[in-house]
Amino acid sequence: MAASGEPGRPRQEEVAAAVVVVGSCMTDLVSLTSRLPKTGETIHGHKFFIGFGGKGANQCVQAARLGAKASIVCKVGKDSFGNDYIENLKQNHISTEFTYQTRDAATGTASIIVNDEGENIIVIVAGANLLLNTEDLQKAASVISRARVMICQLEISPATSLEALTMAHSSGVTTLFNPAPAVADLDPQFYALSSVFCCNESEAEILTGLAVSNPTEAGKAALLLLERGCQVVVITLGASGCVTLSQTEPVPKHIPTEAVKAVDTTGAGDSFVGALAFYLAYYPNLPMEEMLKRSNFIAAVSVQATGTQSSYPYKKDLPPALF
Ligand SMILES: Nc1ncnc2c1ncn2[C@@H]1O[C@H](COP(=O)(O)OP(=O)(O)O)[C@@H](O)[C@H]1O
Ligand SMILES: *[C@@H]1O[C@H](CO)[C@@H](O)[C@H](O)[C@H]1NC(C)=O
Repeated sequence: MAASGEPGRPRQEEVAAAVVVVGSCMTDLVSLTSRLPKTGETIHGHKFFIGFGGKGANQCVQAARLGAKASIVCKVGKDSFGNDYIENLKQNHISTEFTYQTRDAATGTASIIVNDEGENIIVIVAGANLLLNTEDLQKAASVISRARVMICQLEISPATSLEALTMAHSSGVTTLFNPAPAVADLDPQFYALSSVFCCNESEAEILTGLAVSNPTEAGKAALLLLERGCQVVVITLGASGCVTLSQTEPVPKHIPTEAVKAVDTTGAGDSFVGALAFYLAYYPNLPMEEMLKRSNFIAAVSVQATGTQSSYPYKKDLPPALF
């Protein structure tokens, strides 16, 4: 690898990425129809498109678009969707050094049907995502242990997520864990290994059994999650922003966001998590409240355009005050 060449400047660190995601890639296959089909029925839709999704890749793309040096540890199939996904990651300036391709399963897909009312039915086949394993993590060990922030979700095998979090935690890497999709009986180790535990309202309800539909309720759920051992808890609240609290300040704080005209909120949570990872990695001394204010802003931009990754803003399109 190249040294900077300039006298008096330290050699750039080699492989290191500041933000590393260990997570999922999914190809979204979206059909728009006037209504949802019944069992056994064939109907005609009026539009079809393919999109890039999967929570892991979405979060990585948002962090990279803000300027993070990012790498994703993931697995796709050795098929055309997998090839296209790798190309998409490269176009977003994400390192694919640890993006694996397997012949043993297809690239993860989400088949989505959306009716005119915006209601949907979705089938996810995680496929290759579930084959990301210990051996794959070992190959990526040096990039994980030298990251500033590592992000994980639950769209790959939970054992692999847990192992990645353990590796990062033991190297002093800040871990950002997004327990999505949520399960009621989440392994308690996930809490202890999370520097920042970030989920949305419905995930907080599943994890705590409490109702979470406003900032006050979210504060109570966040406290319960904090008591399970995370350093910081963030619960996102859609148009109401988010709530946070931490071991050092265990009093819930509500961080509202600006009112915007939402066009498509798909993937807003992933934009938020990717933005938060960027701030944790590049502005670690900002107060958490300020990082969350800025992450709210960025996610609010994403809801004003259609699609998932296609709605995520780039640094150049955002107010300089955010950087
Ligand atoms: N209608 C909205 N207006 C402004 N910001 C929004 C809106 N919906 C979502 N956001 C932003 O996106 C973040 C995540 O949204 P949320 O709906 O909680 O997550 P998810 O996408 O997981 O359902 C919120 O904390 C907020 O910052
Ligand atoms: C929270 O995220 C899950 C995906 O894990 C999604 O299905 C759900 O609709 C989201 N909930 C809210 C309230 O946005």
